[in-house]
Amino acid sequence: MIIGVPKEIKNNENRIALTPAGAAELTKRGHTVYVQSGGGNGSGFSDEDYRAIGVNMLPTLEEVYDVAEMIIKVKEPIEPEYKLIKKGQILYTYFHFASSEVLTHAMIENGSVCLAYETVELDDHSLPLLIPMSEVAGRMSIQEGAKYLEKTYGGYGVLLGGVAGVLPAKVLILGGGIVGTEAAKMAAGLGADVTIMDISLKRLRYLDDIMPANVKTMMSNDYNIREMVTTHDVIVGAVLIPGAKAPHLVTRDMLKTMRAGTVLIDVAVDQGGCFETTKATTHTDPVFIIDDVIHYCVANMPGAVPHTSTIALTNATLPYAIEIAEKGWKKACADSIPLRKGLNVVDGKVVYKSVADAFGLSYTKVETVL
Ligand SMILES: NC(=O)c1ccc[n+]([C@@H]2O[C@H](COP(=O)([O-])OP(=O)(O)OC[C@H]3O[C@@H](n4cnc5c(N)ncnc54)[C@H](O)[C@@H]3O)[C@@H](O)[C@H]2O)c1
Repeated sequence: MIIGVPKEIKNNENRIALTPAGAAELTKRGHTVYVQSGGGNGSGFSDEDYRAIGVNMLPTLEEVYDVAEMIIKVKEPIEPEYKLIKKGQILYTYFHFASSEVLTHAMIENGSVCLAYETVELDDHSLPLLIPMSEVAGRMSIQEGAKYLEKTYGGYGVLLGGVAGVLPAKVLILGGGIVGTEAAKMAAGLGADVTIMDISLKRLRYLDDIMPANVKTMMSNDYNIREMVTTHDVIVGAVLIPGAKAPHLVTRDMLKTMRAGTVLIDVAVDQGGCFETTKATTHTDPVFIIDDVIHYCVANMPGAVPHTSTIALTNATLPYAIEIAEKGWKKACADSIPLRKGLNVVDGKVVYKSVADAFGLSYTKVETVL
């Protein structure tokens, strides 16, 4: 198959969809890979790195779209790319269709085959192509928390791990899923005193079993949260209720009960955030302060570490990309239920129910297009 990897043109997106190692796996199997020149620079991969493993570099976005049977990307196509997409062309990328009617209509009209990373789903309902970015954001939340605890960044001036004779900082993590678990591991590794809260007792039991002794678990409810926020230095918001807005677990009135210089990191900002005072921020202006409490609410945290994020993303997406390249999208999706769930729009038909429902469009069962 002929595969094209364009340079991402969305603002501040430095990732690329395929590392040289990932591209090598495809070329080794006899597929032809075209990467747009300079596309890997933001992630630390040069044109030379790609050329060295037999990838063809193309100078323009137009040429990549023109030559490829399958386009592998990171972010959803944006307006200048719409006209470049051809009927029958496979687009394998994050789409988040339900958040953009314009994008949904554009993909219906061009007749492409849209395989969305975010809806590829395993039997246990986990989302294997979203997990790597949650892992990155979870680990990064503690790095950011430690930074903003420093006095020069407006924090209380506490070292996360303390030192001999001085107690460590206290870290509270709301939600013990992927983000919360990765955050807890990092905070614990740095020596902080960590508490994870979740509403799932089953999850808390599991975390209690596997976490080191400086991580405790506690049931998440308003009473407990109200008490805990008064004594913690960093509070990480990591809850998710699938398909719904995040609940506001930390309310505006609780800020007054916190110590000045407390740091809130709302990773769940992309679902509306779990702090009432959350509003999305960017890497260029990541924090704001309310009632002397620092809020970090960056909606695309993995974007700050594109080298790590690009490799983590390729590790997860590549096995499916190989299946599609080897078998063609129809047979690959017929053979794999998880991959089939990634199909959202095919040849003008919406084949993912919640996308059709989001915009009142007619829904076609995915089986009928295979
Ligand atoms: N900002 C970013 O850059 C970024 C990056 C990746 C993920 N995220 C977001 O982070 C959030 C968490 O993602 P995840 O992959 O860890 O999800 P997950 O499904 O693995 O975990 C969510 C956890 O929240 C728990 N939960 C639900 N309601 C709760 C409540 N009231 N109190 C405490 N816990 C509760 C669930 O039981 C679950 O264990 C999502 O909103 C995701 O979109 C943001």
